[in-house]
Amino acid sequence: MKQIQIANSDFHASEIALGCMRISELSNQEISSLVNTALDEGINFFDHADIYGGGKSEEKFAEALSMNPALREKMILQTKCGIRQGYFDFSKEHILEAVDGSLRRLRTDYVDVLLLHRPDALVEPEEVAEAFTILQNNGKVKHFGVSNQNPMQIELLRKFVKQEIIFNQLQFSITNTGVIDAGINVNMEIDASVDRDGSILDYCRLNDITIQPWSPFQYGFFEGVFLDNDKFPELNQKINAIAAAKGVTNSAIAIAWILRHPARMQPIVGTTNPGRLRDICKASDVTLTRPEWYEIYTAAGNKLP
Ligand SMILES: NC(=O)c1ccc[n+]([C@@H]2O[C@H](COP(=O)([O-])OP(=O)(O)OC[C@H]3O[C@@H](n4cnc5c(N)ncnc54)[C@H](OP(=O)(O)O)[C@@H]3O)[C@@H](O)[C@H]2O)c1
Repeated sequence: MKQIQIANSDFHASEIALGCMRISELSNQEISSLVNTALDEGINFFDHADIYGGGKSEEKFAEALSMNPALREKMILQTKCGIRQGYFDFSKEHILEAVDGSLRRLRTDYVDVLLLHRPDALVEPEEVAEAFTILQNNGKVKHFGVSNQNPMQIELLRKFVKQEIIFNQLQFSITNTGVIDAGINVNMEIDASVDRDGSILDYCRLNDITIQPWSPFQYGFFEGVFLDNDKFPELNQKINAIAAAKGVTNSAIAIAWILRHPARMQPIVGTTNPGRLRDICKASDVTLTRPEWYEIYTAAGNKLP
């Protein structure tokens, strides 16, 4: 597993991260097997959120692993806050209490990264700045980032927040290519040329913000997996042919497609299956050619101008 230097941070991380959104219903043994497989494969980055499993994902993660200082030091733990029942909340008070809850559940004194989960329309960036400074000063959070934010939202935060914004977690996969479509179709009078996110990909590259693609195997708003799915016959044929030629599984190709993008994104994979995770990790050894990358893009139904 390749390690990447995360820009504006003091750490290297595996180029593939394990997302823990789906682990709350697993047994302790299943969680331990999944996480230990990840560690064996060289994955050292684990993505959480206070809301996953209503808090149970964080809690069971720590419980299943009998979290202890030696193990904790081997991991980069990221969590998120700001989504509440029926509303979003980036208030200082909520950010601070959410982090305390995550630390308690994760049985740790600090998280390496805290992300603001989904934009709060009522955000007061001065309050976010105060919360971040308190969390940095008391050592509870080392680094900060956002999720699902556009360039102007990040600019607004950056006007007040003193810490670097190091990550932006965005939905991006072979079947969710919104962040690249408009760039390919500039100046065209077609739907794909509509810039829906303010050129967030280029903004992140310009500002050394690492993009973390979430749900890299899902189509729609995580409606299901596109691999081996009859809804995507041409795409699966193409992916399977490339996978066979490279001696890896289709899951590895789906991630290799994301890793091939020069923005050096860090995909967050959400499998709960250790065998599948091992297959996915092979993506780190595969470099798709430029033609292969474009062939997969067009096989997903995208047209080039
Ligand atoms: N920031 C945000 O707003 C946001 C939103 C959603 C998710 N996330 C993060 O992103 C992570 C990943 O999300 P996700 O779980 O939706 O992503 P995913 O990796 O696209 O999907 C994983 C799911 O697909 C299933 N699957 C079936 N066939 C598969 C195959 N061939 N290859 C891979 N998976 C297959 C897995 O089942 P098995 O478990 O049986 O393998 C699992 O249920 C989450 O854990 C979370 O950390 C963030």
